[in-house]
Amino acid sequence: MNNTRNIIRQSKTLVGPFPEFNVKDVSECPHELFLEWFKAAIDSGVHEPHAMTLSTTDHNGFPDARVLIIKDVDQDGWYFASSSQSNKGKQIEVNPNVALTFYWSQVGRQIRIRGTARKMDKDMSANDFLNRGVTARAIALIGKQSSIVKDQIEFEQEFEKQIYHIEQNPNIVSPTWTLYRVTASEVEFWQADEERKHIRLKYSNEGDEWIRTQLWA
Ligand SMILES: Cc1cc2nc3c(=O)[nH]c(=O)nc-3n(C[C@H](O)[C@H](O)[C@H](O)COP(=O)(O)O)c2cc1C
Repeated sequence: MNNTRNIIRQSKTLVGPFPEFNVKDVSECPHELFLEWFKAAIDSGVHEPHAMTLSTTDHNGFPDARVLIIKDVDQDGWYFASSSQSNKGKQIEVNPNVALTFYWSQVGRQIRIRGTARKMDKDMSANDFLNRGVTARAIALIGKQSSIVKDQIEFEQEFEKQIYHIEQNPNIVSPTWTLYRVTASEVEFWQADEERKHIRLKYSNEGDEWIRTQLWA
């Protein structure tokens, strides 16, 4: 066996101990179970539990994925924010069907959400923007997310210019910064088991109710 394969095989996964997951005793709505697991992740010291992978498809149907921060979760869905002019923003414009994936290794939990992303109104997007740190706002104001950096000096100059801009106008908002909400059609909760008897519970949206099914791991 080659060295790379050896190194990979020696890396441990799903070591545990893991929390219980009783599929018979769960909330009727997936966002409630999500919030329960999210709080448990924080209590267990999961690093950056609010980081998730957003998957989209481009205009050729080719998949794309990147890590983002989840901004809020409520009965209407899962919220994230980005530039509408970024690659992901343009992809969502063409195909709003997306997937969100969370993985919290310390508790052996994965959550998969499939749904449709929709832009929230300007006030909600502006509010999200103004709650960001100065540096993050300056970068967003440059407004070039996902385009090519031609030279680092230009980047630094643009950055300094926008920092100055914010100092002069603290309430300035990027016109492309957008809060999106993902309305879920399916949400799957996956709990690792140290003996590999993993547990999967899927919520599927059927009109105004959620149907729960347990899946083979
Ligand atoms: C932990 C982490 C959090 C991130 N959070 C965000 C975010 O909330 N919004 C965002 O636009 N990009 C965020 N990024 C950057 C994205 O992963 C990505 O590089 C960027 O949005 C451009 O993606 P795109 O070219 O597919 O549009 C984050 C990256 C990491 C690693």
